[in-house]
Amino acid sequence: MVEAPCVHEPKAVDLIEVFSQPVDVDAFNASFRGELYSDEPTMTAQSFADHVERNTIDLSRSPRWTVDGKLSGVALLGFRDQRAWVGGFGVVPEFRGRGLARRYLEDVLAVCHRAGAARVELEVLLRNAPAIALYKRAGFAVVDELVVWSRAPLATDSARHWERACDGRGIARVARKPSTCWQRAAKRGSGIAV
Ligand SMILES: CC(C)(COP(=O)(O)OP(=O)(O)OC[C@H]1O[C@@H](n2cnc3c(N)ncnc32)[C@H](O)[C@@H]1OP(=O)(O)O)[C@@H](O)C(=O)NCCC(=O)NCCS
Repeated sequence: MVEAPCVHEPKAVDLIEVFSQPVDVDAFNASFRGELYSDEPTMTAQSFADHVERNTIDLSRSPRWTVDGKLSGVALLGFRDQRAWVGGFGVVPEFRGRGLARRYLEDVLAVCHRAGAARVELEVLLRNAPAIALYKRAGFAVVDELVVWSRAPLATDSARHWERACDGRGIARVARKPSTCWQRAAKRGSGIAV
């Protein structure tokens, strides 16, 4: 799994939607359903609560949109000093392909601007072509790649695994100075969020 952190400098735009109801785990899961994230719930109630707590998501400033009273999309937003972070953004499958994400992303940038953010950050899976196209069009720029590694905990194939992990590209990726992504940055008044 590879994610690319992106940044954007927010500008003022009109905020169309109201925050009538906070985003909850069901609204979040409904907005992430589909080919990429599957139809299984992306988060449990516990992992959603942990995500909000650990990543300083501000639910009072995280929009939830509706069309004719039906949930159409959500965004989870976190704020630290002049940084804002999109900790989830999705449009409910029935409403995709109508240009709503573009509009909703403008709302997101407006909320970030009003919150005093100078920089908006997010991560996106490299295979998520629709989202990458959307973010690029909205002015986000890629600043780095995050690489997630995994292996079985038992030692049976450790030598072969290590050899594979240490190819030139792997080393080049880990040897350079990494950007600090939101999830690993120190929260104010606490240690490192891991
Ligand atoms: C990514 C997502 C938000 C796009 O929502 P949407 O409402 O369908 O997007 P829009 O109709 O507003 O399209 C906006 C732009 O997105 C891009 N886009 C949307 N669907 C696309 C597709 N299937 N293929 C390529 N680009 C696509 C295009 O750049 C499009 O602009 P254009 O119409 O001028 O070409 C939606 O697919 C989604 O919620 N996916 C699941 C959750 C997710 O992946 N969230 C992002 C996690 S970082």
